[in-house]
Amino acid sequence: MNILSVESSCDETAVAIVRNGREILTDCIASQVELHKLYGGVVPEIASRKHIEAIYGLADQALLQSGLTRKGLDAIAVTYAPGLIGAVLVGVNFAKAAAYALDLPLVPVHHIRGHIAANYLAYPELEPPFICLVVSGGHTLIVDVRGYTDFRILGTTRDDAAGECFDKVARVLGMPYPGGAALDRCAKTGDEDKYPLPHTKLSGNPLDMSFSGLKTAALNLIHMHEQKGESIDVPSLCASFSKAVSEMLVPRTMQALKESGYKKLAIAGGVAANSRIRADFKDACEKLGAALYTPPLSLCGDNGAMIGSQGYYEFLAGTRAGQDLNAFATRSIEQPYE
Ligand code: KG4
Ligand code: ZN
Repeated sequence: MNILSVESSCDETAVAIVRNGREILTDCIASQVELHKLYGGVVPEIASRKHIEAIYGLADQALLQSGLTRKGLDAIAVTYAPGLIGAVLVGVNFAKAAAYALDLPLVPVHHIRGHIAANYLAYPELEPPFICLVVSGGHTLIVDVRGYTDFRILGTTRDDAAGECFDKVARVLGMPYPGGAALDRCAKTGDEDKYPLPHTKLSGNPLDMSFSGLKTAALNLIHMHEQKGESIDVPSLCASFSKAVSEMLVPRTMQALKESGYKKLAIAGGVAANSRIRADFKDACEKLGAALYTPPLSLCGDNGAMIGSQGYYEFLAGTRAGQDLNAFATRSIEQPYE
Protein backbone atom coordinates (compact mmCIF):
# COMPACT_ATOMS: atom_id res chain seq x y z
CA MET A 1 0.00 0.00 0.00
CA ASN A 2 1.51 3.36 -1.09
CA ILE A 3 0.64 6.40 1.02
CA LEU A 4 1.40 9.94 -0.03
CA SER A 5 1.97 11.84 3.21
CA VAL A 6 2.03 15.54 3.94
CA GLU A 7 3.64 17.42 6.86
CA SER A 8 3.45 21.20 7.35
CA SER A 9 3.02 21.74 11.09
CA CYS A 10 5.99 24.06 11.65
CA ASP A 11 8.79 25.26 9.37
CA GLU A 12 9.36 22.27 7.09
CA THR A 13 7.09 21.51 4.16
CA ALA A 14 7.38 17.78 3.53
CA VAL A 15 5.79 15.26 1.17
CA ALA A 16 6.76 11.60 1.16
CA ILE A 17 5.56 8.32 -0.28
CA VAL A 18 5.80 5.35 2.07
CA ARG A 19 5.04 1.71 1.25
CA ASN A 20 3.30 -0.43 3.86
CA GLY A 21 4.34 1.88 6.69
CA ARG A 22 7.97 0.78 6.61
CA GLU A 23 9.60 1.58 3.29
CA ILE A 24 10.38 5.13 2.17
CA LEU A 25 9.95 5.44 -1.60
CA THR A 26 10.67 9.15 -1.48
CA ASP A 27 10.92 11.82 1.22
CA CYS A 28 10.95 15.42 -0.05
CA ILE A 29 11.50 18.35 2.30
CA ALA A 30 11.58 22.10 1.74
CA SER A 31 13.05 23.67 4.86
CA GLN A 32 12.27 27.28 5.75
CA VAL A 33 14.93 27.45 8.44
CA GLU A 34 17.17 29.91 6.55
CA LEU A 35 14.26 32.33 6.27
CA HIS A 36 13.22 32.16 9.93
CA LYS A 37 16.85 32.57 11.05
CA LEU A 38 16.50 36.27 10.18
CA TYR A 39 13.93 36.59 12.98
CA GLY A 40 15.52 34.22 15.53
CA GLY A 41 12.49 31.92 15.47
CA VAL A 42 9.55 30.74 13.38
CA VAL A 43 7.23 33.52 12.18
CA PRO A 44 3.86 31.73 11.78
CA GLU A 45 2.50 33.91 8.96
CA ILE A 46 5.66 33.49 6.90
CA ALA A 47 5.61 29.74 7.56
CA SER A 48 2.04 29.39 6.22
CA ARG A 49 2.83 31.41 3.11
CA LYS A 50 5.95 29.39 2.34
CA HIS A 51 4.08 26.10 2.81
CA ILE A 52 1.56 27.22 0.19
CA GLU A 53 4.35 28.09 -2.22
CA ALA A 54 6.20 24.80 -1.74
CA ILE A 55 3.59 22.11 -1.32
CA TYR A 56 2.37 21.53 -4.89
CA GLY A 57 5.87 21.36 -6.34
CA LEU A 58 6.99 19.00 -3.57
CA ALA A 59 4.11 16.62 -4.23
CA ASP A 60 4.99 16.53 -7.95
CA GLN A 61 8.64 15.97 -7.05
CA ALA A 62 7.71 13.13 -4.68
CA LEU A 63 5.68 11.36 -7.37
CA LEU A 64 8.42 11.82 -9.95
CA GLN A 65 11.15 10.49 -7.64
CA SER A 66 9.09 7.48 -6.57
CA GLY A 67 8.53 6.38 -10.14
CA LEU A 68 4.82 6.01 -9.38
CA THR A 69 1.95 7.69 -11.15
CA ARG A 70 -1.03 9.14 -9.29
CA LYS A 71 -2.83 5.85 -9.95
CA GLY A 72 -0.17 4.06 -7.90
CA LEU A 73 -1.23 5.85 -4.73
CA ASP A 74 -3.61 4.16 -2.27
CA ALA A 75 -4.22 6.85 0.36
CA ILE A 76 -3.32 10.38 1.45
CA ALA A 77 -2.09 10.95 5.01
CA VAL A 78 -1.65 14.36 6.60
CA THR A 79 -0.60 15.96 9.89
CA TYR A 80 -3.77 17.54 11.30
CA ALA A 81 -2.47 18.35 14.83
CA PRO A 82 -0.67 19.77 16.77
CA GLY A 83 1.26 22.69 15.30
CA LEU A 84 1.04 26.27 14.09
CA ILE A 85 -2.57 26.43 13.05
CA GLY A 86 -2.10 28.34 9.78
CA ALA A 87 0.78 26.06 8.81
CA VAL A 88 -1.12 22.83 9.58
CA LEU A 89 -4.11 24.11 7.62
CA VAL A 90 -2.05 24.39 4.44
CA GLY A 91 -1.16 20.68 4.56
CA VAL A 92 -4.69 19.69 5.55
CA ASN A 93 -6.25 21.62 2.67
CA PHE A 94 -3.77 20.26 0.16
CA ALA A 95 -4.38 16.69 1.39
CA LYS A 96 -8.16 17.14 1.24
CA ALA A 97 -7.94 18.41 -2.34
CA ALA A 98 -5.61 15.55 -3.34
CA ALA A 99 -7.84 12.91 -1.71
CA TYR A 100 -10.92 14.38 -3.40
CA ALA A 101 -9.33 14.72 -6.83
CA LEU A 102 -7.77 11.24 -6.79
CA ASP A 103 -10.72 9.64 -4.98
CA LEU A 104 -8.48 8.23 -2.26
CA PRO A 105 -9.03 7.71 1.47
CA LEU A 106 -7.81 10.60 3.65
CA VAL A 107 -6.00 9.62 6.86
CA PRO A 108 -5.44 12.24 9.60
CA VAL A 109 -2.20 11.79 11.56
CA HIS A 110 -1.14 13.28 14.91
CA HIS A 111 2.30 14.86 14.47
CA ILE A 112 3.77 13.35 17.66
CA ARG A 113 2.49 9.89 16.74
CA GLY A 114 4.38 10.46 13.50
CA HIS A 115 7.62 11.25 15.34
CA ILE A 116 7.33 7.93 17.17
CA ALA A 117 6.64 6.11 13.88
CA ALA A 118 9.96 7.39 12.46
CA ASN A 119 11.36 4.44 14.41
CA TYR A 120 9.34 1.96 12.30
CA LEU A 121 11.09 3.27 9.20
CA ALA A 122 14.53 2.90 10.75
CA TYR A 123 13.87 -0.44 12.45
CA PRO A 124 11.69 -2.84 10.41
CA GLU A 125 11.58 -5.30 13.32
CA LEU A 126 10.25 -2.80 15.89
CA GLU A 127 6.70 -3.43 17.06
CA PRO A 128 4.75 -2.07 20.04
CA PRO A 129 4.61 -2.22 22.95
CA PHE A 130 7.59 -0.07 23.89
CA ILE A 131 8.39 3.16 25.72
CA CYS A 132 9.20 6.23 23.66
CA LEU A 133 10.69 9.54 24.74
CA VAL A 134 9.53 12.26 22.35
CA VAL A 135 11.71 15.36 22.58
CA SER A 136 11.21 18.13 20.05
CA GLY A 137 11.04 21.90 19.82
CA GLY A 138 7.50 21.94 21.17
CA HIS A 139 7.03 18.66 23.07
CA THR A 140 8.66 16.56 25.76
CA LEU A 141 6.75 13.39 26.53
CA ILE A 142 7.43 9.93 27.92
CA VAL A 143 4.90 7.73 26.13
CA ASP A 144 3.77 4.16 26.62
CA VAL A 145 3.28 2.98 23.03
CA ARG A 146 0.81 0.18 23.78
CA GLY A 147 -0.08 -0.38 20.17
CA TYR A 148 0.36 1.36 16.83
CA THR A 149 -2.59 3.63 17.59
CA ASP A 150 -2.81 3.30 21.37
CA PHE A 151 -0.75 5.75 23.44
CA ARG A 152 -0.58 6.68 27.13
CA ILE A 153 1.40 9.68 28.40
CA LEU A 154 3.46 8.65 31.43
CA GLY A 155 5.32 11.91 31.99
CA THR A 156 5.56 15.33 30.44
CA THR A 157 7.27 18.67 30.90
CA ARG A 158 5.55 21.05 33.31
CA ASP A 159 6.87 24.09 31.46
CA ASP A 160 9.17 24.45 28.43
CA ALA A 161 10.00 21.74 25.92
CA ALA A 162 13.62 20.54 25.94
CA GLY A 163 14.20 21.80 22.37
CA GLU A 164 12.90 25.25 23.24
CA CYS A 165 15.53 25.51 25.99
CA PHE A 166 18.35 24.31 23.75
CA ASP A 167 17.31 26.95 21.21
CA LYS A 168 17.03 29.74 23.78
CA VAL A 169 20.42 29.10 25.38
CA ALA A 170 22.01 28.74 21.93
CA ARG A 171 20.47 32.03 20.83
CA VAL A 172 21.86 33.92 23.82
CA LEU A 173 25.26 32.40 23.01
CA GLY A 174 24.95 33.92 19.53
CA MET A 175 24.16 30.74 17.59
CA PRO A 176 21.62 31.02 14.74
CA TYR A 177 18.11 29.56 15.07
CA PRO A 178 17.44 26.70 15.69
CA GLY A 179 20.55 26.42 17.81
CA GLY A 180 20.12 22.94 19.30
CA ALA A 181 22.38 21.18 16.81
CA ALA A 182 25.05 23.94 16.94
CA LEU A 183 25.03 23.83 20.76
CA ASP A 184 25.45 20.05 20.58
CA ARG A 185 28.47 20.37 18.26
CA CYS A 186 30.04 23.07 20.42
CA ALA A 187 29.59 20.95 23.59
CA LYS A 188 31.92 18.26 22.25
CA THR A 189 35.10 20.11 23.23
CA GLY A 190 33.79 21.45 26.56
CA ASP A 191 34.13 20.40 30.19
CA GLU A 192 30.69 19.23 31.32
CA ASP A 193 31.50 19.77 35.01
CA LYS A 194 32.71 23.36 34.70
CA TYR A 195 29.31 25.03 35.25
CA PRO A 196 27.13 22.91 37.55
CA LEU A 197 23.46 23.70 36.84
CA PRO A 198 20.58 23.06 39.26
CA HIS A 199 18.43 19.93 39.25
CA THR A 200 14.81 21.01 39.53
CA LYS A 201 12.86 18.95 42.07
CA LEU A 202 9.20 18.38 41.29
CA SER A 203 6.40 17.09 43.47
CA GLY A 204 3.66 14.88 42.07
CA ASN A 205 4.27 12.54 39.13
CA PRO A 206 7.92 11.41 39.40
CA LEU A 207 8.08 11.02 35.61
CA ASP A 208 7.25 14.67 34.96
CA MET A 209 10.04 17.01 33.88
CA SER A 210 10.89 20.71 34.02
CA PHE A 211 13.34 22.75 31.96
CA SER A 212 12.57 26.40 32.62
CA GLY A 213 14.64 26.57 35.85
CA LEU A 214 17.57 25.05 34.05
CA LYS A 215 17.19 27.46 31.14
CA THR A 216 17.00 30.48 33.48
CA ALA A 217 20.06 29.32 35.43
CA ALA A 218 22.07 28.99 32.21
CA LEU A 219 20.91 32.40 30.94
CA ASN A 220 21.70 34.04 34.32
CA LEU A 221 25.17 32.56 34.25
CA ILE A 222 25.80 33.99 30.76
CA HIS A 223 24.47 37.44 31.74
CA MET A 224 26.45 37.48 35.00
CA HIS A 225 29.67 36.86 33.07
CA GLU A 226 28.72 39.60 30.61
CA GLN A 227 28.03 42.10 33.40
CA LYS A 228 31.35 41.35 35.08
CA GLY A 229 33.13 41.66 31.75
CA GLU A 230 34.34 38.06 32.05
CA SER A 231 34.32 35.74 29.09
CA ILE A 232 32.42 32.52 29.41
CA ASP A 233 33.83 29.19 28.28
CA VAL A 234 31.16 28.53 25.64
CA PRO A 235 31.95 24.87 24.88
CA SER A 236 31.94 24.07 28.62
CA LEU A 237 28.63 25.85 29.15
CA CYS A 238 27.16 23.90 26.22
CA ALA A 239 28.50 20.65 27.66
CA SER A 240 27.23 21.45 31.18
CA PHE A 241 23.80 22.40 29.82
CA SER A 242 23.52 19.29 27.63
CA LYS A 243 24.49 17.15 30.61
CA ALA A 244 21.82 18.78 32.81
CA VAL A 245 19.10 18.29 30.15
CA SER A 246 20.13 14.67 29.73
CA GLU A 247 20.02 14.15 33.50
CA MET A 248 16.42 15.38 33.45
CA LEU A 249 15.38 13.13 30.54
CA VAL A 250 17.29 9.89 30.91
CA PRO A 251 16.61 8.75 34.52
CA ARG A 252 12.86 9.44 34.21
CA THR A 253 12.61 7.63 30.90
CA MET A 254 14.55 4.68 32.29
CA GLN A 255 12.27 4.59 35.34
CA ALA A 256 9.26 4.48 33.01
CA LEU A 257 10.88 1.65 31.06
CA LYS A 258 11.59 -0.36 34.22
CA GLU A 259 8.05 0.13 35.51
CA SER A 260 6.55 -0.91 32.17
CA GLY A 261 8.37 -4.23 32.16
CA TYR A 262 9.15 -3.74 28.45
CA LYS A 263 12.66 -4.23 27.17
CA LYS A 264 12.39 -1.76 24.30
CA LEU A 265 13.04 1.98 24.38
CA ALA A 266 12.76 4.35 21.42
CA ILE A 267 13.56 8.04 21.20
CA ALA A 268 12.07 10.49 18.71
CA GLY A 269 11.87 14.17 17.76
CA GLY A 270 14.50 16.75 16.86
CA VAL A 271 16.27 16.69 20.24
CA ALA A 272 16.69 12.90 19.89
CA ALA A 273 19.51 13.89 17.51
CA ASN A 274 21.50 15.20 20.50
CA SER A 275 24.75 13.26 20.84
CA ARG A 276 24.96 13.53 24.62
CA ILE A 277 21.39 12.29 25.11
CA ARG A 278 21.92 9.42 22.65
CA ALA A 279 25.13 8.36 24.41
CA ASP A 280 23.52 8.45 27.87
CA PHE A 281 20.57 6.34 26.68
CA LYS A 282 22.96 3.86 25.08
CA ASP A 283 24.77 3.39 28.42
CA ALA A 284 21.55 3.20 30.43
CA CYS A 285 19.95 0.63 28.10
CA GLU A 286 23.08 -1.50 28.04
CA LYS A 287 23.06 -1.58 31.86
CA LEU A 288 19.40 -2.61 31.88
CA GLY A 289 19.74 -5.11 29.04
CA ALA A 290 17.12 -3.24 27.02
CA ALA A 291 17.10 -2.57 23.27
CA LEU A 292 17.48 1.08 22.25
CA TYR A 293 15.99 2.46 19.03
CA THR A 294 17.44 5.76 17.82
CA PRO A 295 16.27 6.93 14.40
CA PRO A 296 18.92 8.40 12.07
CA LEU A 297 19.27 12.16 12.35
CA SER A 298 17.36 12.63 9.07
CA LEU A 299 14.27 11.04 10.64
CA CYS A 300 14.52 12.78 14.05
CA GLY A 301 13.40 16.21 12.83
CA ASP A 302 10.13 16.87 11.03
CA ASN A 303 9.69 14.89 7.83
CA GLY A 304 6.92 13.53 5.65
CA ALA A 305 7.91 9.86 5.82
CA MET A 306 7.09 9.58 9.54
CA ILE A 307 3.54 10.75 8.74
CA GLY A 308 3.29 8.13 5.99
CA SER A 309 4.41 5.41 8.39
CA GLN A 310 1.95 6.33 11.13
CA GLY A 311 -0.68 6.99 8.44
CA TYR A 312 -0.43 3.32 7.38
CA TYR A 313 -1.17 2.08 10.90
CA GLU A 314 -3.96 4.63 11.33
CA PHE A 315 -5.39 3.39 8.01
CA LEU A 316 -5.27 -0.24 9.20
CA ALA A 317 -7.03 0.84 12.41
CA GLY A 318 -9.81 2.37 10.30
CA THR A 319 -9.03 6.04 10.92
CA ARG A 320 -10.50 8.15 8.12
CA ALA A 321 -11.31 11.83 7.66
CA GLY A 322 -13.80 13.46 5.34
CA GLN A 323 -13.72 16.79 3.57
CA ASP A 324 -14.67 18.38 6.90
CA LEU A 325 -11.22 17.56 8.37
CA ASN A 326 -9.97 20.47 10.45
CA ALA A 327 -6.55 21.39 11.85
CA PHE A 328 -5.85 21.67 15.60
CA ALA A 329 -3.10 23.72 17.21
CA THR A 330 -3.12 21.50 20.29
CA ARG A 331 -4.35 17.97 20.77
CA SER A 332 -3.24 15.11 23.02
CA ILE A 333 -1.42 12.17 21.46
CA GLU A 334 -3.80 9.93 23.39
CA GLN A 335 -6.91 11.30 21.71
CA PRO A 336 -8.14 9.33 18.70
CA TYR A 337 -9.25 11.32 15.65
CA GLU A 338 -12.90 10.59 16.40
O1 KG4 B 1 11.07 17.59 15.92
P1 KG4 B 1 11.56 18.90 15.45
O2 KG4 B 1 12.27 18.97 14.12
O3 KG4 B 1 10.40 19.94 15.36
C1 KG4 B 1 9.35 20.01 16.29
O4 KG4 B 1 8.36 19.26 16.09
O5 KG4 B 1 9.50 20.79 17.23
O6 KG4 B 1 12.52 19.46 16.60
C2 KG4 B 1 13.22 20.67 16.46
C3 KG4 B 1 14.05 20.89 17.71
C4 KG4 B 1 14.70 22.27 17.74
O7 KG4 B 1 14.47 22.83 19.02
C5 KG4 B 1 16.17 21.96 17.51
O8 KG4 B 1 17.06 22.90 18.06
C6 KG4 B 1 16.28 20.64 18.22
O9 KG4 B 1 15.12 19.94 17.81
N1 KG4 B 1 17.52 19.90 17.86
C7 KG4 B 1 18.49 19.59 18.74
C8 KG4 B 1 19.49 18.90 18.00
N2 KG4 B 1 19.07 18.81 16.72
C9 KG4 B 1 17.85 19.43 16.64
N3 KG4 B 1 18.60 19.83 20.05
C10 KG4 B 1 19.71 19.37 20.68
N4 KG4 B 1 20.70 18.72 20.05
C11 KG4 B 1 20.64 18.45 18.72
N5 KG4 B 1 21.63 17.78 18.11
ZN1 ZN C 1 8.03 17.73 15.12
